[in-house]
Amino acid sequence: MRAAAWHADQVQAGEGQAQPWWPEPPAVDPVEVRLRHEDNRRAWNQAAQQYRAGLDDAVEYLRAGGVHLHPLEREHLGDLGAWCELAVHLQCASGKDTLSLLNAGAGRVVGVDIAEGHIANARQVSERLGAAASWYRCDVLDTPHELDGTADLVYTGRGALGWVHDLDGWAAVVGRLLRPGGLFHVLDDHAGAYLFDPAASELRPSGADYFANVTGSRGWTEQYVGDLGREKAEHAVKHERLWPPSAVVSALIRVGLVVEQFGEHPDEYWAAFPHLDPQLRRRLPMTYTITARKP
Ligand SMILES: C[S@@+](CC[C@H](N)C(=O)[O-])C[C@H]1O[C@@H](n2cnc3c(N)ncnc32)[C@H](O)[C@@H]1O
Repeated sequence: MRAAAWHADQVQAGEGQAQPWWPEPPAVDPVEVRLRHEDNRRAWNQAAQQYRAGLDDAVEYLRAGGVHLHPLEREHLGDLGAWCELAVHLQCASGKDTLSLLNAGAGRVVGVDIAEGHIANARQVSERLGAAASWYRCDVLDTPHELDGTADLVYTGRGALGWVHDLDGWAAVVGRLLRPGGLFHVLDDHAGAYLFDPAASELRPSGADYFANVTGSRGWTEQYVGDLGREKAEHAVKHERLWPPSAVVSALIRVGLVVEQFGEHPDEYWAAFPHLDPQLRRRLPMTYTITARKP
């Protein structure tokens, strides 16, 4: 039997509208997965407007050779110039990190994102830089087959996997994009951190379900994307899923990748707990990383 649908039409018609977030059941069928991704596309299109204000700075940063990658990513990936002709960035947003892969030595980059606003931003930045980049606007699950077997590196993370509601479908895309010997890398939010209330100044339980937490919401937190100058009711509904790192590792193993590195880290990439004493925060697993190779 199909699980209850929780996409935007239903939320607007009923429960949840006045709340900042609400619990949802995991998406168990492909139609529901796509409905949630479509809602997320609308929400990220609204968020892309916030990124637009930073495009001039991004061009300047990248033109000066900036590499907007996390230190853990730099450590794990090394000198891309030595081994990476083509890097594919899944869920590339407005392309700053994608184009950073070029500055880190990749020969060419491809960015994939569901939000047309983000892809338009990325195109604008790469055209201004004359960068060796191409962009695809599509659901990550529909990443074009013409890219299959071409990627030396499939790169993703820093707020990516929580928007995807079909982890096996996602891992299949990673598996088909890589050439034999190619490398996959992710650094993303650790589900363990979500067990604590991000607004608290002490370690207070959030009530999240570590294994199957799904939330719907409207609007963005101040320290993330901000209010975009809109009333809450005008914000698109969006849906997030917590994937424990073991679920991500297992999905990659199921598509035949060989895990070479798996780490859990106190390092963060954004201020998820703005009121918490940094010493307390560093007791939490803020992020995880996985490096896996296609045989
Ligand atoms: C937090 S951002 C990732 C940012 C990335 N670390 C960067 O700055 O390059 C999440 C991105 O995932 C994209 N996204 C969400 N769901 C997607 C889907 N199903 N397929 C492709 N992209 C998706 C959003 O449009 C957004 O750009």
